[in-house]
Amino acid sequence: MKIRGSKIVVTGCAGFIGSHLTDALLEMGNHVVGVDNLSAGRRSFLEDAETYDDFTFIQSDLLKDDLKDVFKGAQMVIHVAANPDVRSGAKDTLSHYQQNIEVTYRVLEAMKSLGIKDVVFPSTSTVYGETTVIPTPEEYGPLVPISVYGATKLACEALICSYAHSFDMQAVIFRFANVVGSRSTHNVLHDFVAKLRNDPTQLEILGAEPGTVKSYVHVDDCVRGMIIGAEYARNKVEMFNLGSADCLTVKEIADIVIDSMELRGVVYRWTGGVQGGRGWIGDVKNMLLSSEKLRSYGWEPSLNSSQAICKAVREIVAKPD
Ligand SMILES: NC(=O)c1ccc[n+]([C@@H]2O[C@H](COP(=O)([O-])OP(=O)(O)OC[C@H]3O[C@@H](n4cnc5c(N)ncnc54)[C@H](O)[C@@H]3O)[C@@H](O)[C@H]2O)c1
Repeated sequence: MKIRGSKIVVTGCAGFIGSHLTDALLEMGNHVVGVDNLSAGRRSFLEDAETYDDFTFIQSDLLKDDLKDVFKGAQMVIHVAANPDVRSGAKDTLSHYQQNIEVTYRVLEAMKSLGIKDVVFPSTSTVYGETTVIPTPEEYGPLVPISVYGATKLACEALICSYAHSFDMQAVIFRFANVVGSRSTHNVLHDFVAKLRNDPTQLEILGAEPGTVKSYVHVDDCVRGMIIGAEYARNKVEMFNLGSADCLTVKEIADIVIDSMELRGVVYRWTGGVQGGRGWIGDVKNMLLSSEKLRSYGWEPSLNSSQAICKAVREIVAKPD
């Protein structure tokens, strides 16, 4: 896929990953049309992007608005927008269905009618469900997601694959581990930092000690991996896992956050969790992806899980809301 000197639409450009990706694409000399309805994203995350003449921001709702005008003239769509909140999926299934499946369908239909051939899609480790092979490779199956979020992202993957094969498109799908870094608004770090700012003597932790065991990747490594994967993609549908090679328990994350915030004597209050110690319904207990395929194209995360968490906490703490 050509990812230099192109006109690229980034949906969800004002969100956590979308805004970092937008910055990187602009730095590479692309013209970026960023689309966001600002439901979760923030215009302030686009401050750097808006210094480029080659950046256009369009506030639009992908679920309702006509997308053809927005996508016109683009060579590629990187469809980042989603409802990415795994936890809320057990309560609000409709939002995941609409914001993930329906929106992806609308994005693909607009691309089809305009003849836009290249689509890049950030998917998630949660499509695998609870795997028996760890680290989990891209070929693992059957895919049995245990969260509504994971199920809807898997449905999006399937739609994208079918459009690539049916309508002569090319697709690159990334299955991310947990991504951390500045501008995040809804992950475990953000939760812990917010709770500790509110009360530095104790920390409520969802789940049973020591919590789930998962892999984390810094957003800078994530964005670099997306660009490398998209540039090297040759097949009609290319699938890449993207995560670091190690993992951490929730307790280890809490320890790092507390250390980074220079707090002492914090009491952990584990909630006990649901369904045998999960943090919430649909929370996978063990997640570690094999990213060997992306590594074989030259990508290497510069930070492991704990380094990524340390850096992300520093970034979150340095930039209060
Ligand atoms: N953050 C992670 O750890 C992680 C892990 C795996 C996969 N992902 C995937 O990466 C992508 C980005 O996640 P994120 O963490 O940056 O989320 P985010 O919530 O920060 O960003 C999503 C953006 O999409 C926008 N958006 C949502 N619905 C929209 C609509 N209908 N119209 C226009 N804009 C809309 C939001 O305003 C927001 O700016 C998602 O597709 C998510 O599934 C994220």
